[in-house]
Amino acid sequence: MWRYANPVAIHWTDDLAALLPTLISPGKGLLFAYSSGFLETMDAGLRRGLLAGIPVYSEIETNPTLAQVQRAIDFARPLAPDWILAIGGGSVLDTAKIVRLALARDCPRIDDLLDAIPPRTAGGRGPQLVAVPTTHGTGAELTMWTTVWDKEKGRKHSLSHPGIYPDIAAYCPQLTHGLPLPISFATTLDALAHAMEALWNRNENPVSDEMAFAAVKLISDNLEGLANPVSAEVRANLLRASLFAGLAFANTKTAAAHSISYPLTLRWGIPHGIACSMPLLPLWRINAPHIPAKAERLRLLLGGEDVAAALARLQRFVADRMPYSLRAYGAGPADLDALVRESFTKGRMDNNRVALDPADVRAILEAILDPPRG
Ligand SMILES: [Fe+2]
Repeated sequence: MWRYANPVAIHWTDDLAALLPTLISPGKGLLFAYSSGFLETMDAGLRRGLLAGIPVYSEIETNPTLAQVQRAIDFARPLAPDWILAIGGGSVLDTAKIVRLALARDCPRIDDLLDAIPPRTAGGRGPQLVAVPTTHGTGAELTMWTTVWDKEKGRKHSLSHPGIYPDIAAYCPQLTHGLPLPISFATTLDALAHAMEALWNRNENPVSDEMAFAAVKLISDNLEGLANPVSAEVRANLLRASLFAGLAFANTKTAAAHSISYPLTLRWGIPHGIACSMPLLPLWRINAPHIPAKAERLRLLLGGEDVAAALARLQRFVADRMPYSLRAYGAGPADLDALVRESFTKGRMDNNRVALDPADVRAILEAILDPPRG
């Protein structure tokens, strides 16, 4: 028995300014954007039309903290928007998702939302939320969860609830054209991790499998096109990969690679896509024997290339261009005991096809201590 569902309406366009007014209901708007200068770079049609004079919130940093999300809620509440347009990477989209939930459930304090999401009232779903990703990786526009970081307590909070799904995901490849290469690498590898973790996931299903295969193939064929200048075709293909990987893991959730990544990001600020992709190769070796039909399908899709070799090829490409090992971000062998303890996030690690014990996780961490060898 299996099921697959995703309530987010997906739109793909080369002309965001023409599309958005057809999607957004009338009423008061609020824009969440990744930078205050965003509107200046935005299409003039949008600037003078839909977005003319609407409040903009752009104080969202990477891996948003509880305090930052609280400030975003405080900004949005008095405005009582009818719709929220979120244009940005995973942090912007995650923040907008949680703000929309806070407004819908009339819950002004982020701490109260973390305790228990209040039941739906007459307010319904709250403002319409349109998510427009500007990176090709996080898939946040397609998922019903959002991540908030408590840096003081060294904790990551994950809220998961159907009320968190955006209403609409609108993809416009041109928005990714200016993405700096390090962010392009990290977000593409995040999408790769979403796809691989969907394949070796206990919540696997035939729909998520197909989506994951398509994403891995696109990333294998296009990641090495991330060299200046990046072609429009590569950007569009990587955005499609991110979409497919998003549809895959939105149903399966992530697994061991993400679980292992969280302390790496908390302790050393390792970019999410780098942290969650480093363990993919050892995890493939652990999981592949348990999914032989999928492993063979993937090998054929990759033109006969051994999947481990393909993963190593992609990781080396990135490792030649940016830090890509635990040691490169400041971790050493003395940190491994604590990292092993912190790697077991409930609801993530237990999705892995093969149950891992602390010795397995230690071996994975040892394998990614130093950069992949060429
Ligand atoms: Fe991720």
